[in-house]
Amino acid sequence: MTTKILYVVLTYLCGSIPFAYIIAKLAAGIDIRTAGSGNPGATNVFRTVGAGAGSVTFILDAAKGFLPVFLARIIFDNPSFYYLVAVAAAAMTGHMFTVFLKFKGGKGVATGCGVFLALMPLPAAYALIVFALVFLCSGYVALGSVFAAASLPISAIISKSYSVEYVVFAFFAAALVIYKHRENIKRLIAGTEHRFKIFGSGKK
Ligand code: G3P
Repeated sequence: MTTKILYVVLTYLCGSIPFAYIIAKLAAGIDIRTAGSGNPGATNVFRTVGAGAGSVTFILDAAKGFLPVFLARIIFDNPSFYYLVAVAAAAMTGHMFTVFLKFKGGKGVATGCGVFLALMPLPAAYALIVFALVFLCSGYVALGSVFAAASLPISAIISKSYSVEYVVFAFFAAALVIYKHRENIKRLIAGTEHRFKIFGSGKK
């Protein structure tokens, strides 16, 4: 039991590692919290530092969600759903409310992607497709993220492969990610959200 509790605490601390902050500081000497959207996440590193740094941030943020859930299954020999949810929630809340940046972390998209690829691979894969379609059609990462998050519990229900507990967890995780995008949503409505240039249209 003690080992399992320690594992959850360790997962929270790993989730708290602010890769966006570290990479932006190392690669460009900037404080990601005062650049671009101010969000310590992969999108903002991509926007303010560059594609390479943004991609590395995304991979590391996704890994700190995926690995704790994936490894918990192996280390604790297929633990209960509730334990896996505790690990998944620790990784996501670590990223979103990091102890290393006064509890002001990212929006949970990359880390949530990692968590759900390990916990519920099929709905996570559908969410990735939804993200890609919305982003490619609109140029807005935040819009893609919000639609992808909303699609997660819906595809979990439609797939009929997951018990109600999984669907409820997916619902709450999605709601938290969407809540974290409230400023993006206001900017999208106002027409002031940053738009990536795709296929030669939009502004960088
Ligand atoms: O992953 C977060 C993304 O959806 C929005 O990021 O920097 O545009 O607020 P940002």
